Amino acid sequence: MMREIRFGIIGCGLMGREFASAAARWLHLTGMRARPRIVAVCDTNPALMGWYTDALGPMQVTTDYRDLLANAEVEAVYCAVPHVLHAEIYPAILAAGKHLLGEKPFGMDLAQNRAISAAIAARPDLLVRCSSEMPFYPGAQKVVEFVRSGAVGPVLEVEACFLHSSDINPEKPINWKRMAGVNGDYGCMGDLGMHVLHVPLRLGWRPARVTASLVKRVETRPDGKGGRVACDTWDNATITCTVPDAAGDFPMVLKTWRIAPGEANTWSIRVLGMKGSAVFTTKSPRQWQWMRYEAGGSQGWVTEDLGYTPLFGAITGGIFEFGFTDAIQQMWAAFVDELAGGDAQGFPCATPEEAAAHHAVLTAALQAGTSGQSVEVCW
Ligand SMILES: NC(=O)c1ccc[n+]([C@@H]2O[C@H](COP(=O)([O-])OP(=O)(O)OC[C@H]3O[C@@H](n4cnc5c(N)ncnc54)[C@H](O)[C@@H]3O)[C@@H](O)[C@H]2O)c1
Repeated sequence: MMREIRFGIIGCGLMGREFASAAARWLHLTGMRARPRIVAVCDTNPALMGWYTDALGPMQVTTDYRDLLANAEVEAVYCAVPHVLHAEIYPAILAAGKHLLGEKPFGMDLAQNRAISAAIAARPDLLVRCSSEMPFYPGAQKVVEFVRSGAVGPVLEVEACFLHSSDINPEKPINWKRMAGVNGDYGCMGDLGMHVLHVPLRLGWRPARVTASLVKRVETRPDGKGGRVACDTWDNATITCTVPDAAGDFPMVLKTWRIAPGEANTWSIRVLGMKGSAVFTTKSPRQWQWMRYEAGGSQGWVTEDLGYTPLFGAITGGIFEFGFTDAIQQMWAAFVDELAGGDAQGFPCATPEEAAAHHAVLTAALQAGTSGQSVEVCW
């Protein structure tokens, strides 16, 4: 029988439900070493947890995460709570001896991230990964492969974007994601920074310096009780990095926008080089584009329809589309595979080191954006 890994979920909101759904349709995947079974859920809002027990059957239900961590049955935890709580709860999860897939950004600022990193260093026996699902799109994997093959040559520019329009409606009531005291001073960069930096960091592109344009367009929002309150987080950030490279420094532009007109949820990566270039955007989820160039030759982009060709095999026929919920499930497949002794098909989920590196970049970007200066990234 396939090995079961018993999970607890702390934080049963938007993302907790995505994991539960991915786990509930694990039969979608083929050839897995193990499967997750959710045996405990925790949220301070008791109203959210009936959805889990209705769908998945009886399990531990608690409003105190300490109770879940005291449950010996729980081997691994998915934690998806507001940013201000990461630095309290992630170390507690590790101290209880549970493996962790934690949501980004792994602490709402650099100091909190350092506290989390120290707790991780104290438990090398546990697997810790940071959530970031978009690189699991087949087209994103093609771009990664293309770069790793050396096809790009000297890099001219990299652009990585996460553009969405969650906050385009100024009448949308405030929630914790738009409160700096809970979300962190990074604002949109804390929400979306790991998403745009995961692939660049994996490819070894570590910015030396950054400048940043930070945009705040919606100053107040309805408080849901008839009044308005300050909305004190950055809406959009455009970060321009200088990335050192043996073939010459190159610019890398990172866009983390929560008010991007016309964009529902667009994650993209574009790499332009002297020999080869490649692009993937979730706007065209089953395609990627690439071109190779030789001195004096033509400059023709090739668009390839990839269909459903994920890292972890699945029952879906290869001609079909891959989407967000598939990316979530593939990320979970990578984590569960590693827990079961596999190598995540060569593409593990974002590591704690990558999460720490993204904090180094975001901290510099926040300084750069608020001071108007170019700021060195402190590695
Ligand atoms: N990977 C992604 O694509 C993605 C997308 C959205 C959010 N996120 C991340 O997921 C995390 C949660 O975001 P969300 O969108 O699910 O938010 P959410 O507000 O929908 O859910 C968070 C839940 O945490 C609960 N909670 C608060 N304090 C708690 C506590 N002390 N103990 C237990 N539960 C508590 C809240 O009641 C809420 O239900 C954040 O870190 C966010 O950055 C990731």
